[in-house]
Amino acid sequence: MNTVSHSTEPPLEHVDQWDDFIAGRYREGKSTSEFRNYDEKANPGVAEFYRLNHANQTLAFALQKEKEFGGLTRGKRSIWAAADYLNTLVDDSDPDTDLSQIEHLLQTAEAIRKDGHPRWFILAGFIHDLGKVLCLYGEPQWAVVGDTFPVGCAWSDQIIFSQYFAQNPDRNVPEYQTLYGIYEPNCGLDKVRLSWGHDEYIYRVTRDYLPEPAQYMLRYHSFYPAHRHGAYRHLMTSHDVKMFDWVNKFNPYDLYSKGAQKPKLKELKPFYEDLIAEFFPAEIDW
Ligand SMILES: [Fe+2]
Ligand SMILES: [Fe+2]
Repeated sequence: MNTVSHSTEPPLEHVDQWDDFIAGRYREGKSTSEFRNYDEKANPGVAEFYRLNHANQTLAFALQKEKEFGGLTRGKRSIWAAADYLNTLVDDSDPDTDLSQIEHLLQTAEAIRKDGHPRWFILAGFIHDLGKVLCLYGEPQWAVVGDTFPVGCAWSDQIIFSQYFAQNPDRNVPEYQTLYGIYEPNCGLDKVRLSWGHDEYIYRVTRDYLPEPAQYMLRYHSFYPAHRHGAYRHLMTSHDVKMFDWVNKFNPYDLYSKGAQKPKLKELKPFYEDLIAEFFPAEIDW
């Protein structure tokens, strides 16, 4: 594995700073001048986070992480226990205004529920970020969160802060620098390796138990270049494109469900325990 640089302090105060940055960036009705508030000068920590992500997420890195975590050898846990475990990720920021991990999951799921969507869709909302337990396994921020993108082929200029790919060692592998790289035209996203992070991990953990649209929502919810910017259609099948309607349907709930009221954990827990039991066995492999 090639690593470009290591600093002892992680660039983000908390991994959710990336989610907040994305939500601000895509906030509807934003003017061009506001958009400039999302450049590197205004967000040095976020920019440094993206620099590390883009410099270190190589094809070899994604393959190595898949080997390390994709086999699900980290033990058995229930979904609820995983949510409790994720909640131990301590937030450095203001506890009065920021949501805990479980609160973000519940707000996302509750917003989906209020709109009358099917139960599997609500469940996808509740579990979508559980892959962030990678942080608790000691993985650096840039290998857990961040917009995902295909590795092993040319980077789209629709990827945020794409200038930082200048520092990625795959830059020097000519085979990885063509439009299709190591892939066939329209080979389908399942054959395409994305940069490693919490999306791919939670997809791997839960894929045997969920309907296909939910699998797409989990696996590609951070694939902003594709679901927000329409990039990489040349690697997708028509089925992928159809399934991305679901990914797009999911995204606003992830970004904009933060309400004024914190969700009432105690009141909601029985509903979610029933919902989890409808789809999952008591414990699954992580
Ligand atoms: Fe996420
Ligand atoms: Fe999320």
